[in-house]
Amino acid sequence: MKNELILILDFGGQYNQLIARRVRECNVYSEVVPYSISIEKIKEKNPKGIIFTGGPASVYGKDAPVCDKEIFNLGIPILGICYGMQLMTNILGGIVAKANKREYGTTDVSINNSSLLLQGFGKTNGFLMSHTDFVETVPEGFKNIGSTSSCPNAAMENETKKLYGIQFHPEVNNSVNGIQLIKNFLFNICNCSGDWVISSFTQETIQKLKNKIGNKKALCALSGGVDSSVAAVLLSKAIGKNLTCIFVDHGLLRKNEGDEVEKIFKEQFDINLIRVNAKERFLSKLAGVTDPEKKRKIIGEEFIRVFEEEAKKIGTVDFLVQGTIYPDVIESGLGKASVIKSHHNVGGLPDYVDFKEIVEPLRDLFKDEVRLTGLELGIPENLVYRQPFPGPGLAIRIIGEITDDKLTILKEADSIFREEIANSGLHKSINQYFAVLTNLKSVGVMGDERTYDYTIALRAVETTDFMTGIWSKIPYEILEKVSSRIVNEVKYVNRVVYDITSKPPATIEWE
Ligand code: XMP
Repeated sequence: MKNELILILDFGGQYNQLIARRVRECNVYSEVVPYSISIEKIKEKNPKGIIFTGGPASVYGKDAPVCDKEIFNLGIPILGICYGMQLMTNILGGIVAKANKREYGTTDVSINNSSLLLQGFGKTNGFLMSHTDFVETVPEGFKNIGSTSSCPNAAMENETKKLYGIQFHPEVNNSVNGIQLIKNFLFNICNCSGDWVISSFTQETIQKLKNKIGNKKALCALSGGVDSSVAAVLLSKAIGKNLTCIFVDHGLLRKNEGDEVEKIFKEQFDINLIRVNAKERFLSKLAGVTDPEKKRKIIGEEFIRVFEEEAKKIGTVDFLVQGTIYPDVIESGLGKASVIKSHHNVGGLPDYVDFKEIVEPLRDLFKDEVRLTGLELGIPENLVYRQPFPGPGLAIRIIGEITDDKLTILKEADSIFREEIANSGLHKSINQYFAVLTNLKSVGVMGDERTYDYTIALRAVETTDFMTGIWSKIPYEILEKVSSRIVNEVKYVNRVVYDITSKPPATIEWE
């Protein structure tokens, strides 16, 4: 499965995971590792090629991240991107200088050579530039292969040693020939064959799980989300009835969602599924709680307690299944970014469940690959392509105290919004959209009566990484229809507003 590997050395750039995904989109398996990885470890992993990511540092900075210099003597092709190129230059004896002004945005790069890296490109190509430092003089043995009006060495190569540097970012969508450049590196320079495909991953994983687990028992906590669902189906294909899934329904899922999950698992996949309807229990723990972080903590804790209680009834199991995916396990080269919200994903590790080992069948996959695996396994498309849904569910979309009545209001309003977005076809371009029950009541008039009811806020964002995003410009007619349906069909709502804030400065969820 991993016989062809591209190693991505992380120097803290914001696009590090994107580079790994792009490589995998070209059917070559890739792993992100900290820049400080040892030479022994690299040799052990035996990659076909190495990519250095960009990063916020300057090579002359006091704490600039530096990899082991021996890496350039391994005979493995290396592509340095942005900071990665500057680092390569600095270590190999070239000169990195500071520009007066930052170069940012899609910029024309003139190609000066018929390099293997730039094969198939025209004379000029738009690539995303985002840098202040630049390579003033390329190291000995290198030659210039590209430039922009303000960056003399936008690309360089040492063809004999298979070392390449580019100042721009091929991994982002705004770089038109970006994916071609990555392909050129993988196939022309690293001689990859591109045989990494999800279908073989799926079959190999099922076989591996069979070999590992055999006739022993495994237990899986189902949250209803995509990751744990795909992990559970993989396991069930491998060990059938020796897998038991516990679906803790905290009552904070969207309208009908719990029933849909149960139906698919029981009817389509014939999985041993225990559904625990724990809504009352969660609501009583949440009574009177208004602080968003407290809500998250209570739900995360309670989920684990409920799971443990059920698991105890089953007794000792050999394996506990976790739906961990690759972005959760990537060890950042420069440490973690600051925590804005504690993302309490239900399905965290319980303390008191009696098991011998953890299995994480999706540990190596990105989210889009998890979805492809799900499709490969026959999980219905509407479940596989559900938009992201936070572990604490609707609890963080009800501002202030959570009550059963408020939950009902929100579920109905949210379901109308989602239905109209799906009818309009916009669900393909909007990445996350939902309703929020604000804690605000205002005066309205219905017929001849004065009303004093809740305000629903609609939120819709377009994003690929969910770390930044823009609010979606939904056509007025659709917003009008949603608004009129909500105030007419949902009791206790007399006003609907649309959130027109991007992230940053707002976050996607309201809490
Ligand atoms: P924010 O609100 O931080 O959300 O802009 C970014 C993405 O993360 C999701 N989200 C969560 N997911 N547990 C989760 O599993 C959480 O506690 C949580 N909070 C936010 C959010 O839906 C969006 O996709």
